[in-house]
Amino acid sequence: MRRELTVNWHDLQPGRALSRDTVHIWRASLDISKSLINYIEATLSADELAHIAGVRSSPARLRNIAAYGLRRMILAHYMNIDPGELRFSYNAYGKPALASQMTELCFNVSHSADQFILALALDSAIGVDIERIDARFPWQEIVSHWFTPNENTVLQSLPSEFQRNAFYTLWTRKEAYMKACGQGFSLKMNQIDVSFGSDVWGNAINAFKALDGDTTWELHDLEFSSDYAATVAIQNNGWSLYFGQWEDH
Ligand SMILES: CC(C)(COP(=O)(O)OP(=O)(O)OC[C@H]1O[C@@H](n2cnc3c(N)ncnc32)[C@H](O)[C@@H]1OP(=O)(O)O)[C@@H](O)C(=O)NCCC(=O)NCCS
Repeated sequence: MRRELTVNWHDLQPGRALSRDTVHIWRASLDISKSLINYIEATLSADELAHIAGVRSSPARLRNIAAYGLRRMILAHYMNIDPGELRFSYNAYGKPALASQMTELCFNVSHSADQFILALALDSAIGVDIERIDARFPWQEIVSHWFTPNENTVLQSLPSEFQRNAFYTLWTRKEAYMKACGQGFSLKMNQIDVSFGSDVWGNAINAFKALDGDTTWELHDLEFSSDYAATVAIQNNGWSLYFGQWEDH
């Protein structure tokens, strides 16, 4: 029933150059070896270490370290520098970008449970969101607040066995767009309609006019695994997407 973009997560090999009409999307597990955690910790900045120190649970802290490390390792690979040399800047809402070095390389990161995803494009706003589909999450209690009336109608019209996955698909579309804009939840989620008419599953690629009406975005629902939903949002259209599984290199 779900109609995400069919993805071969082994399309992309490290070293493939990023061209102006392509998006590269990497996935990785956040459960990485102790030796890699030790290597990563040595590459992190003071603010990354301070953030990690504030994470109370030990498994969550390790996954946060892994997420920061994967972000550094993948970006450094494109820039041909050491991960520890990367410097980040942050917008007023916390969206990270590369500071000074190769600022045309735009990226966004999302993680959920043990999964990590990073999307890259040149000179284009990009956002990504992944969510683990939680069979116990009471999504019915929050949809009227966070979703548009149209999205609520579309969800209610689906057979009940499809509603939970549809909820997560709509959620990741919205959040990917909100992250691409860089404002995250400071935008009003219930004013962003991503139901695309009455066909909640839409096409694999959905052209989407933003709130301002001037910008077109492409939203791609990604085939990940049955217990995750994921979407990437990119400004403008005509993108070719390539996918890779990042392994410990
Ligand atoms: C960005 C945001 C949507 C992330 O939500 P999330 O589901 O918890 O997390 P995800 O895993 O999808 O994304 C996290 C990553 O997004 C990136 N990120 C952080 N702020 C971001 C922003 N404003 N826009 C885009 N990406 C952002 C970071 O790389 C972050 O990685 P980290 O957690 O390893 O540091 C959320 O934190 C947010 O809305 N931040 C803006 C804060 C704000 O202004 N809030 C207003 C009051 S509600």
